Order: sequence, then C-alpha cells, then structure tokens
Amino acid sequence: MSTKTWTAVDNYIVSSLFEADPVLDAVLAANRDNGLPAIDVSAAQGKLLSLLVRIGSAKNVLEIGTLGGYSTIWMARALPMDGKIVTLELDPHHAKVARSNFERAGVWDQVELRVGPALESLAALSAENAGPFDLIFIDADKPNNPNYLSWAMRLSRPGTVIVCDNVIRDGDVVNEDGRDANVEGARAAFSFIGGDKRLDGTAIQTVGAKGYDGFAIAVVS
Ligand code: SAH
Ligand code: DHB
Ligand code: MG
Repeated sequence: MSTKTWTAVDNYIVSSLFEADPVLDAVLAANRDNGLPAIDVSAAQGKLLSLLVRIGSAKNVLEIGTLGGYSTIWMARALPMDGKIVTLELDPHHAKVARSNFERAGVWDQVELRVGPALESLAALSAENAGPFDLIFIDADKPNNPNYLSWAMRLSRPGTVIVCDNVIRDGDVVNEDGRDANVEGARAAFSFIGGDKRLDGTAIQTVGAKGYDGFAIAVVS
C-alpha cells in the first residue's frame, strides 16, 4: 500500500461525493504559483472540517495556521450567514495570498485574518473577550501545540470542538528515537488532551493524497 493508492482513493472520494470546485482548484493553483508549501489539508479532510462546522452548528470558528486559506474556505463555506471564522497566520506573504483567495472564494466578509505570531493574536483575542469559539482548528507550528491547546481552552465553552492536525506524522508519534520538534509537538498534543479532565478526545490516523498522518479531535466539557 502506497501514497499512490491513497491518492487514487482520495480522488475517488472527491469525484464520487463532491461537486466540481473550480474555486478551490484556483486557490491551490494560486498557492503553488506564489510559492506556498503544499501542506494544506486534503479535499477529503477539508470536507470533514466543513461537516464538523455543520454538525456542531458552529457560528464562531477559530483557526490557528492559515497558509493560503484552503482549510479556512472549507469551514467558512459551511457557516451560516451570520457566522464568522477568525484565522491566525504568522507569515505576511501567506496572509496576502490567503486574503486574495478569500476574495476569490467570496468568503472575505466572514473571515477575520490576523497576521502575526498566533500566541500574540490569541492573547489579543482573549483580551478583547472574543469567543467562546464553537470549533477550533489547530494547524500551525507544531511545537506550540500545548500553548495553542491552552489558549483554545480559555477561548472555549462546554461543547467546543477542538481539532488538532498532524498528530501522527508517518507514525513517528510512537517512535521514541525521534527528536523531531514536530513529532514532539504531536506527542505534546496527546499529553495535553489526555491530561486535561475537561477534554474528552481521540485521534484518527489518516492516509490519502497528503500521506500518512492524522488528527486529534476533542470536546470540551
Ligand atoms: N490550515 C492550512 C495549513 C496551515 S500550514 C490549510 O490546511 O490550508 C501552517 C501555517 O502555520 C503556515 O502558513 C505557517 O506560516 C503558519 N505558522 C507557523 N508558525 C506560526 C505562528 N507562530 N503563528 C501563526 N502561524 C504560524
Ligand atoms: C506540515 C504542516 C502541516 O500543517 C501539515 O498539514 C503537513 C506538514 C509541516 O510543517 O511539515
Ligand atoms: Mg496541517
């Protein structure tokens, strides 16, 4: 079993279940043309995020790690008219590309893009009494996962759903030899979720066009 098969199956999922989506195709093309790394979620994962918005009737969404806004657009499209997504991005170039993608996708009215280190943006959001958020998607620099989870708790309410991307990392999460800071960040997400009595969570291993990885999902009580 290989990435080739996983990609073919991802294509099968998309062609069987999703409408053609020239806007999202253009978003990925713009990301590529502007030199952004192709580390956005897959289409199948993006659709899952949008379903989580709908299943939870989320109106207030927080995303940490925008890149070109591919995952943001999936979630923004699932929001009700009066819903909003705040997305945090460190890199001004990524943010510039994301903004133009949001305009292209017609979701700019519902997106608040904050540029700067997410830890500063989170402190500002908290100081502004933003939230509570209904859904929080953590997908930025992995070593900060515990800090992001900690802020997520402060910006949550009972019932808030927290999703943390890239917690499996080719299975390296169980390889104790790995000293990779991203893998340590993945483990830190497990320790945090496992150690906080207000969080009830699981993790799902995924394969697909983006390889072998997975996400953690938890609900706040
Ligand atoms: N959620 C996106 C992918 C995000 S990739 C999608 O699926 O489409 C991770 C992003 O986090 C990158 O754009 C990176 O610049 C950003 N990032 C890294 N460190 C950060 C930090 N300290 N604060 C905010 N964003 C950060
Ligand atoms: C990386 C980051 C991501 O958010 C992702 O989905 C895949 C890879 C990375 O930094 O390598
Ligand atoms: Mg990711």
